[in-house]
Amino acid sequence: MSQEPKRGDFAKKKGEIILREHEFDGIQEFDQKLPNWWLFTFFAAIAFFVAYWFFYYATPWVKSPQKTINDQIIAIQEAKLAELAKTVASLNDSKLVHSWKDQVPAGEAIYVKNCLQCHAADLSAMKSDPISGKMVSAGGRPLTDHVWEHGGKPMQMFKLINEGTPPGKPGFNGAKMEAWGQKLSPVEIAQVISYIISKVPEDFKDIPPPEPEEKK
Ligand code: HEC
Repeated sequence: MSQEPKRGDFAKKKGEIILREHEFDGIQEFDQKLPNWWLFTFFAAIAFFVAYWFFYYATPWVKSPQKTINDQIIAIQEAKLAELAKTVASLNDSKLVHSWKDQVPAGEAIYVKNCLQCHAADLSAMKSDPISGKMVSAGGRPLTDHVWEHGGKPMQMFKLINEGTPPGKPGFNGAKMEAWGQKLSPVEIAQVISYIISKVPEDFKDIPPPEPEEKK
């Protein structure tokens, strides 16, 4: 085959064999027209890419995964804030002391799972040192010492547990408590407070029962 291969100089009919000019190690290539269905999908994919690229980057109609996730996170945070506002609006010191008593077992389960490691099973915040055998601090503040550094009213405890050590406060021996509102729902925080109250009822005996028309 001496003549220069031209564009379009490929096999036109099924079964026709045209070979390309080059040869390597005795291997030659067929010169076939690509089937139309294949060309169609090829050009359609290019057209799709251009259109998609345009819609993705130049219009607000297609959201990037990052924007989708950001929008979802904002929606979750708004829902959490709304739930918190609703629960806090339905609570006060009297209700937490008097109306939440039936929630103590639920609160105990939450305490054992989340709080026990630093405040101890008996709420003393002391643990036995494995080497010396002496009682040492477990890290948290004792909850049975009748000293409420962050306020002894149930709603003050709610704020501390929900938001953690306030910014700027030194903490306890340098240790700060995390914002449990990130992990516990507002109702769970109220339940765990009802459990703490049940362990030191004497600290809350001055809080009167809620007015008769007030319910939980
Ligand atoms: C990793 C250790 C740790 C865990 C777990 C922990 N706390 Fe604390 N807690 C602390 C520390 C440290 C303080 C002292 C914070 C401060 O004074 O700023 C504290 C303080 C408190 C106080 C305030 C006591 C006071 O004197 O005013 C309450 C109430 C409390 N925690 C409840 C809880 C509850 C409820 C949980 C479980 C949901 C919990 N804590 C889990 C470490 C912990």
